[in-house]
Amino acid sequence: MIRVLGIETSCDETAASVVSLANDSKPEILSNIVLSQIGEHAAFGGVVPEIAARAHVEALDGIIEAALADSGVDLADIDAVAATAGPGLVGGLIVGLMTAKAVAAAAGKPLIAINHLEGHALTARLTGDLDFPYLLLLVSGGHTQIVRVAGVGDYQRWATTIDDALGEAFDKTAKMLGLPYPGGPNVEKAAVKGDASRFSFPRPMKGSAQPDFSFSGLKTAVRQAATAIAPLTEQEVCDICASFQAAVADAVTDRVARALARFREEFPDAGTPALVVAGGVAANRAIKQALEKICLEDGFRFVAPPLNLCTDNAAMIAWAGIEHLNSGVDDDNAFDFVPRSRWPLDTISTPVVGSGRRGAKA
Ligand code: KG4
Ligand code: ZN
Repeated sequence: MIRVLGIETSCDETAASVVSLANDSKPEILSNIVLSQIGEHAAFGGVVPEIAARAHVEALDGIIEAALADSGVDLADIDAVAATAGPGLVGGLIVGLMTAKAVAAAAGKPLIAINHLEGHALTARLTGDLDFPYLLLLVSGGHTQIVRVAGVGDYQRWATTIDDALGEAFDKTAKMLGLPYPGGPNVEKAAVKGDASRFSFPRPMKGSAQPDFSFSGLKTAVRQAATAIAPLTEQEVCDICASFQAAVADAVTDRVARALARFREEFPDAGTPALVVAGGVAANRAIKQALEKICLEDGFRFVAPPLNLCTDNAAMIAWAGIEHLNSGVDDDNAFDFVPRSRWPLDTISTPVVGSGRRGAKA
């Protein structure tokens, strides 16, 4: 039996969790506490790093205590402490990793420094039967990537955004239209009442030989359309949201279809491989339905972990710790690990300048 305490503080959630794995058994989430700071950032229309770091300092000790108490496991019976060490907002990362170092040192436990993106990448193996290799579509406020996951530590980025992250595009669109933060859920809600054919917005990168995403041109098109007919009626806001969401779904499925085809070429014997989604935007029903459709057409299994595990949480960090322990990844020097605001999951592919908000949030 392995039990790992996970700690996550890379953005605006303070989270701790205990996950266990018994021999020949399924993993179990023994506790999963997530404290969202959304209320503290809402007035600013986005996450304020300084406020986030202070809020983590105030909350983290209590959240760790609550996660241990909820799990019914004593710190003495934990096998390792796993903490997000990057990428993310550096203030929050420092709080989380330093606290993890202190807890692990005091209890005499090993420490594992986890890449937040790896947490997202491995979550679907925590919640369901999923073998390597598979494809991951990570769509959050800070990242928009397609990653080939072939094993623990074996990640290759096949596509990324060359400008805005998808969640960021939703948030900025919402802001332009006067909808509250966080924008994604509000844009989706408005889109339900809108006419998606009212505005014909661009589908950036659609059909391009370059595999990446781009959303800034779409954002500009939304701004121009909104400015041209301002002041907007409620119905016009809904129509813009519906048209924007349709453009996004179309652009994303085009990019994903390209990656599915590449996966088929590289893994011709994979049978019915999986496309896994992660990140807050994975909550969007229109995008999900569009992805499910292309998966069905291309013979892929569509895997969407429960939403509370798609968004930022510490269970995914604890689970990544267990995966490290089980696969013999060398984590010897985690006590010396310095938090990294930028930490690509795939260290081989060339970084793309300008990809993702603040280069931080995942
Ligand atoms: O993964 P997440 O909770 O946090 C990080 O970015 O790390 O993702 C938050 C992002 C925000 O940009 C939010 O607007 C977007 O996910 N989002 C959505 C929806 N729910 C959340 N975007 C589109 N449709 C949604 N239903
Ligand atoms: Zn994330």
